[in-house]
Amino acid sequence: MASLERIAGSGWQEESQVSVHTSVDGATARPGRPVSIHDLLAMKQRGERFAMVTASDASSGALLDELGVPVVLVGDSLAMVTLGYDSTLPITLDEMLHHTRAVARGARNALVVGDLPFGSYQDGASQALASATRMLKETGARAVKLEGGGPMIEVTAHLTRAGIPVMGHLGLTPQSMHQMGGFKVQAREDRAADRLLADAIGLADAGAFAIVLEGIPNGVARRVTDAVAVPTIGIGAGPHTDAQVLVWHDLLGLTTGRLPRFVKQYANLRSEISSAIKAFQAEVADGEYPAPEHTYGD
Ligand code: KIV
Repeated sequence: MASLERIAGSGWQEESQVSVHTSVDGATARPGRPVSIHDLLAMKQRGERFAMVTASDASSGALLDELGVPVVLVGDSLAMVTLGYDSTLPITLDEMLHHTRAVARGARNALVVGDLPFGSYQDGASQALASATRMLKETGARAVKLEGGGPMIEVTAHLTRAGIPVMGHLGLTPQSMHQMGGFKVQAREDRAADRLLADAIGLADAGAFAIVLEGIPNGVARRVTDAVAVPTIGIGAGPHTDAQVLVWHDLLGLTTGRLPRFVKQYANLRSEISSAIKAFQAEVADGEYPAPEHTYGD
């Protein structure tokens, strides 16, 4: 018997009635309906790798959605790339809710994941449940992400028992930058790698539907990916993960300064935007813009 799946906006539908794959220009295949955490699990089972990209506003959310990116992360990296903070630590839950709402307005089918910011869940299960509940109720995100293993395993179990999908995040966890002594590759030593593996298994057992692996050696990422049934999503973790994530601004060449080794810039939008703004300035100065076709006449 075909399983039943809830389709946002149109009630219950037979899964078999839904068009299962829509591919945009040969990019990531994605169901022609809202992506669920179960779709991601099925992709891992089929050996299909996928991309996750961050977004912080409605237009980037809408474009990623249109391009068939299955998971859009409203990462707290937006604190730095969008809001200009020096780290991810200052961003508040209210600020994250504001940006997640905007992204979710744009991204209709992609699975929008709202990052829980520093200080909104580290106090334990009930604080985490309160923050995650706000994230789902007030934004349109359908999952949350939180950083860390150890005590966060029980927090993850608490949220998933409450019906909130959780994406874990292990390795270089930027919210713990002071504890780590900066942005350093993690789990290089055997004991730390074993601990990370145990944390990943703990998170998966606690119900996490995916785990971001950031800033760890390739071999450690491979061990985790082989050990857990849920997709691993790498960033600076080498090629042996089920998916990869990049930050919008890094991927598109909007970030300035020294970039981490793992960043690949697929475009140089900073230079494109600079040329456009310079041309606008020059045309305004010369009186070339607006031309008659840009006016409503006399
Ligand atoms: O905040 C973020 O953008 C993230 C990704 C880099 C995984 O956590």
